[in-house]
Parts: sequence; structure tokens; C-alpha cells
Amino acid sequence: VFPGATRQIGARNASRTAVVLDIDGVVTRGATAVPGAAEALRRLRQQQIPFVFMTNGGGVTEKKKAEELCSLLGVDGIDADRMLLSHTPFRPLAERFREKRVLLVGSKDTAEVAESYGFDVGNMAVTSSQIVKALPEIYPWPVTHCTLPPVDVNAADAPPIEAVLIFYWPSDWAMELQAVVDDMQVVSDVLAGGRPLGVGTTGTNGTGVQCAELWSSNPDFLWQAGYPVPRFGTGAFVECLQALWKPFGRSPLEVQECGKPYAVQFQAARKLLSQLAQHDDFERIYMIGDNPAADVRGANSAGDPWRSILVCTGVYQGGVGSNDKEDPAWRVEENLPDAVESILRMSG
Ligand code: G3P
Ligand code: MG
Repeated sequence: VFPGATRQIGARNASRTAVVLDIDGVVTRGATAVPGAAEALRRLRQQQIPFVFMTNGGGVTEKKKAEELCSLLGVDGIDADRMLLSHTPFRPLAERFREKRVLLVGSKDTAEVAESYGFDVGNMAVTSSQIVKALPEIYPWPVTHCTLPPVDVNAADAPPIEAVLIFYWPSDWAMELQAVVDDMQVVSDVLAGGRPLGVGTTGTNGTGVQCAELWSSNPDFLWQAGYPVPRFGTGAFVECLQALWKPFGRSPLEVQECGKPYAVQFQAARKLLSQLAQHDDFERIYMIGDNPAADVRGANSAGDPWRSILVCTGVYQGGVGSNDKEDPAWRVEENLPDAVESILRMSG
């Protein structure tokens, strides 16, 4: 257990240095911890440096992600109030869409995440599998059915889908690509009267105008998993959506995005740090990341007191002494332990 892990409630941490840690490619690579990661976190604890995690990953609740990280690192003391996932900023959308029907896109646990945010899952917040269960012809291929009931497509008052929320990497890209492109075109909704949905049929507006909001929580085109070469991320799924929308839409889909590098994510991380430290008077917030397009770009754009530290254990593999051309980091370190030691030296 981290020394001092059971922080007294309301204890103020006077440190004006704080650290935000990316996870994939910094703390972990796939299902294994980066060597020295747990010890690096212990060093931050021992020096009373407040730290939180900010990942473009997710797909589970913040609590579950924190538990997974503890078990992977073999430590305790990391809980949900230190965990910012790609979709954490979706939480307020449950209120925004309370009276509207939304489509949840993601993995098998996405329904549980949405429910924990307050969405009316299964009724006003539905999944593509529920629609396909009701109208199998919508997607004439085998699907991994979810446990939720089919959507009632015949109810005269069935509300149309007004927004698609991409929480996480879709379990079934083909089905979700079909369902989302459909939903971007449907005006009189597939769910009222069960009118057949499909491109160019009477079930669509045919004007090429995007008629549902599209929200996506992770712009990563690539990320560092356990394989040595970076893998496609949810940003690649959105690129595919744009490609499939092209023949039907007058202009590219308008996507409301969160996740790194967007300011909303860095503002949320700073809020978590402030709650943890019980103050917001930071002199330096170090963002330790592996992806220049996400971690470095976001910290550099956030400006003071943020400083980007790029490590070479993930997407960026240039090595110390080099830097990313497009998004140069304030500092480049070999790995997380080296980054933490240099922060401790700098913070005296
Ligand atoms: O899906 C996870 C991936 O997009 C990157 O995660 O922790 O490097 O921001 P992370
Ligand atoms: Mg990363």
C-alpha cells in the first residue's frame, strides 16, 4: 500500500507541484506495467506530490479502471477520484439528453458506464444491438447481442435518435458504422412506426444534412498497446465514419470531441488535482505522456502551469535527446521513473 495512502479527509497538500499521468505507453503497455512504474508512483507519494491519471482509454467506470490499474501494478491507494477517462466529460450529457433518445457506442461495459453517469440505459439511451435485435434487417450479419431488450420500434411515440455518443472503441465496428451513418441521416426516425431504415429510402432525409449530434470521447488515431507497433484508436473509427458518410453527406460530419488534447480534458484533470490537494495554487503541473498528438499537444496548449514531459515507452519512440517535430515536448525522458526523478529534482 502507498505510504500515506489513506489520506485524511480534507487534508490539504501544500505541494505546488502536481503530476498528471497518461496510462497507456507510460504506466502500462497492454496488460503489463512499464518497469519501475509502481516505484515511480511510490516516489511521488513519499514526496507528497499529488498525482492523477488521465487516459484516452476507458470503456469501464472510473472505479473499475482504478481497480484494474491497482491490480496490474500490484499496489493499492489508487481510486476513482484520481481517474479521468476519455468519456468522463460525458457525465453532464446525461442531463442534456434526459428527454432525448441517444445511441451509445462502445464496448460491452459501456451501458454500465452510461448508467453510472445517469443515462436511462435501455430506454432513452439505447445501443445498436438493441435496434438490430428489433430490426435484424438493419444489419444482416451475425452480431454479438447485448443483454438489453430490443428497442420498441413500433411504438408510435418512439423518439428518434438525436445524438450518437461514442464512449469507447466499438466492439463491432461494422455494425456501429452502419448504425451511426444511418442515424446521421434519419429524420423521421427508424423507431417510430418501424419504417425501414436505410440509405436513400423513405426512412432518411436524403438531403445529406447531418440530423443527429455526434460526440466522440477519444481522438487517438494510434495508441500504444502491448504490441511493439502502435495500434488504431477510436480516432480511427471516427475517420472511417467520415469516409462512409462522404457519399451521403454534403459536408463532413460535425463531431463534438473530448479526450486529450482537448482543453476540456486538461481542465477536468486540474479540477481533480485541486480536489485532491485541496487547493488550486499550482506552480507546475507536469503532464507525463507518450503521445505527442494527445499528451504533449494538450499540455502545451493548456499553457502555464502545465509542462509536457514526453517519454519514449509508447507512441513516441525517438529516444532522449530527440523530440517530436510537430508537437515538441517541454522535456523528453526515457521512461516514467526517469521523468518522476527529474520532476522531484526540479521541485526541490
Ligand atoms: O484506448 C486507449 C488509447 O486511446 C490511449 O490511451 O492512456 O495513452 O491516453 P492513453
Ligand atoms: Mg498514452
